[in-house]
Amino acid sequence: MTSQEENFMRKIEADEKIEPKDWMPEAYRKNLIRQMSQHAHSEVIGMQPEGNWITRAPSLRRKAVLLSKVQDEAGHGLYLYSATETLGISRAELIAALQSGEAKYASIFNYPTLTWGDVGAIGWLVDGAAIVNQVSLQRTSYGPYSRGMIRICKEESFHQRQGYEALLALAKGSPEQKQMAQDSLNRFYWPALMMFGPHDSESAHSAKSMEWKIKRETNDDLRQKFIDQTVPQIEVLGLEHPDKEIKWNEERGHYDAGEIDWDEFYSVINGNGHCNRQRVEHHIAAHDEGTWVRDAITAYNEKKNAKKAQ
Ligand code: 3HC
Repeated sequence: MTSQEENFMRKIEADEKIEPKDWMPEAYRKNLIRQMSQHAHSEVIGMQPEGNWITRAPSLRRKAVLLSKVQDEAGHGLYLYSATETLGISRAELIAALQSGEAKYASIFNYPTLTWGDVGAIGWLVDGAAIVNQVSLQRTSYGPYSRGMIRICKEESFHQRQGYEALLALAKGSPEQKQMAQDSLNRFYWPALMMFGPHDSESAHSAKSMEWKIKRETNDDLRQKFIDQTVPQIEVLGLEHPDKEIKWNEERGHYDAGEIDWDEFYSVINGNGHCNRQRVEHHIAAHDEGTWVRDAITAYNEKKNAKKAQ
């Protein structure tokens, strides 16, 4: 091990943050670019399924809350793209990787939002899962990523609460509304578990990510945390749990759960979900429509810098 590698690992073991100007193994840098950019892509693509319901929200209050949440997601994406750029890659390269299909984003966003209940389920389950994952990532070893997570986590709890509240209103409403909430829970519960990634035994990156403290807890440990916290929440809603095998295991101190459909998981992350094509096409169209904004900012900055140089 070179002295640079020794010094790097000493900092990791001492829980010191690695900063952009510090020496780091190329594989550490590449792993971070992969995970952080895909995290950013997830935030931005995640705006689409919920955004579809802004004009159809059932009240002005729900519309205002949803608008604010979707706007937050855009901000989360920007924090994370900016943090990724500190690793020496440009925004244009990151966007190109997303639009070409080379880069991934959270598979859950390739499922359609068919009813208003789905908007509640996304807030409650998807942001709920994201919180479990992101609270852990606040302790990631890369400084800019860790600081971005601390900031993002502050906003996520509002996201989860507003979703749960929307579902509670449905679950306590008419029989048709309760059925809508149950249908959304049934369709979003298992894809929400997939947000934590494959089993640790199947995870391509976990070993190195844990060694370098990019990840502080494993996919399965975080998933278990989410499963445990969701059982009482479903009980309060008075809905049926979608996992027929869910059962408290006193010895483990956790719930035993049924198996995720991994064929579905790999099919969706490899581009064959309901909405993969639509999500990327929408992103490309919106990005192209926004070219004039980027050009205007560039022209403004060039003019401002030319004036400064006089
Ligand atoms: N969706 C899409 N791809 C997934 C996935 C999922 N749910 N889970 C795993 N994968 C991919 C991985 O990216 C990797 O593919 P790659 O090599 O092409 O990148 C492959 O499956 C193998 O998985 P690994 O477990 O080896 O990969 P990781 O070690 O990266 O673990 C992860 C996966 C747990 C998702 C990790 O990347 C992570 O913690 N990422 C940051 C958190 C994140 O992105 N969360 C989504 C947030 S969405 C959100 O918050 C929006 C909400 O606010 C609405």
